[in-house]
Amino acid sequence: MLTVSGLTTEFRTRVSGVRAIEDISFDVPQGVAVGLVGETGSGKSVTIRSILGLLPATGKVIGGSAEFDGVDLIRANRSQLRSIRGRRIGFVAQNPFGSLNPILSIEKQFANVIRAHRTMSKADVRAVALERLESVQVRGPERVLRGYAHELSGGMAQRVVIALAMLHDPPLVIADEPTTALDVTVQRQILDLIDGQISAGNRSLLLVTHDLGVVAQYCQRVVVMKSGSVVETGAVADVFGDPRHPYTKQLLAAVPPAPWSRAAKEVTGA
Ligand SMILES: Nc1ncnc2c1ncn2[C@@H]1O[C@H](COP(=O)(O)OP(=O)(O)O)[C@@H](O)[C@H]1O
Ligand SMILES: [Mg+2]
Repeated sequence: MLTVSGLTTEFRTRVSGVRAIEDISFDVPQGVAVGLVGETGSGKSVTIRSILGLLPATGKVIGGSAEFDGVDLIRANRSQLRSIRGRRIGFVAQNPFGSLNPILSIEKQFANVIRAHRTMSKADVRAVALERLESVQVRGPERVLRGYAHELSGGMAQRVVIALAMLHDPPLVIADEPTTALDVTVQRQILDLIDGQISAGNRSLLLVTHDLGVVAQYCQRVVVMKSGSVVETGAVADVFGDPRHPYTKQLLAAVPPAPWSRAAKEVTGA
């Protein structure tokens, strides 16, 4: 479905290029959820943004490819990329308020996303938007449609972003730390929502997170990044059961023990 190979990206400074990621390779197969994990600054977002053509002006992919639907996204032109993003790849970023337009009503944003790829009457846009808001469990969808992003809680705003990302039923969804900016109480709900939308459509998911527990619960495969490189990749059960790289071992050791493991130790005296 998505095959990333040898991806290398630099940021330009006054004097030279600074390499942010180097020789990144992994695939996201059809119908599979892949977790991309690594500490802050390891290059997860740069990887995603390189694939999606969303790097800031100072960033440049200097090598490698990202094949999707038979197209190399790195070499695709702007209009090809725009058509693939949204229609074939849904993107959910970390901060929902950065993804939503603050000065357009939510209804207008649904209309814009729908009309980017097909023509539809105002009444039909409204009907589709209401149905989609209901599918992401937004309460009072009529009121939300008339309103603006700043009137929403973080969790509700991220639900709206997810509904917008899913509008064209993309076969691949890429989510970059979709819950990091949200209240802990809603983080699981949002992950469950994404997981439900993915499973229901037999879609593929590339889920960026720094939380190995999230990978264990929601993903079948994992790609571990450190300092701009991939250090380990494989099936979640294999990598977590028998980590090869010292960094993966260290990440796993840092996961707080599940409450039941402490109880079990007390019972057995271990
Ligand atoms: N706009 C930028 N300009 C210069 N360097 C950047 C920029 N964005 C990211 N980087 C560099 O790329 C590295 C990886 O960043 P990032 O992909 O955002 O990490 P992660 O998402 O894993 O926390 C950072 O260490 C940073 O030095
Ligand atoms: Mg990031």
